[in-house]
Amino acid sequence: NTPRKIAAGNWKMNGLRADLQEARNLAAAFPAASVDILLCPPATLVGAMAAALVGSAVRVGGQDCHQNVNGAHTGDISAAMLADAGAYHVILGHSERRADHGETSTLVAAKASAAHAAGLTAIICVGETEAQRDAGQTLDVVLEQLKTSVPDGADKANTIVAYEPVWAIGTGRTPTLDQIAEVHDALRAHLPDAGISLLYGGSVKPANAAEIFAIANVDGALVGGASLKASDFGAIVAAL
Ligand code: G3H
Repeated sequence: NTPRKIAAGNWKMNGLRADLQEARNLAAAFPAASVDILLCPPATLVGAMAAALVGSAVRVGGQDCHQNVNGAHTGDISAAMLADAGAYHVILGHSERRADHGETSTLVAAKASAAHAAGLTAIICVGETEAQRDAGQTLDVVLEQLKTSVPDGADKANTIVAYEPVWAIGTGRTPTLDQIAEVHDALRAHLPDAGISLLYGGSVKPANAAEIFAIANVDGALVGGASLKASDFGAIVAAL
């Protein structure tokens, strides 16, 4: 029941059609990868990126989906639409969605169930704020998020969990290796399936990837800024 090794890139609200060349370059660098490589571009690029990566080892994912199958939800995208566009995965409950759009763990679980029903793998994000860490609440916060955000039916075939301390995202600051290990050990002990891959996210870059990947119970990374360039992301993939 060994978890799969995964390097996932989250382009967030970055990327135009010209940037698909970065995805092509990444695919060219890893013609046959021993780990799972994943890019999550903005929704506007999911279909085009999937088309550009047909036959490659790099898979495409979305960054969010609606919890309903279809209906009157202007501006939203269903899990089935992402799958139809060529996505295999979808990031859910990223701290930027929780903060910018008020997403709760209960909503994240509903979205994850919708993703599973559409055949997508849900990448469910958890993580504490700096204030919560300073208050000694880190494990309570992430375990509560895990318990409430991961839906019934989650297993290693349809779910990935990413630990992303909010204060480490896009800041260049990373937790100590011991701090990452402490949280990943706790998350692993509470997963519904011990084979679910656990990713670390937050200022992962080529210079620190290898030491983070060497931590027990870290099965890969969810990478933001350093996933935009194939050279940087490729170096992180190579460290996995
Ligand atoms: O989803 C990715 C994370 O939010 C990490 O972003 O690598 O730019 O810190 P970052």
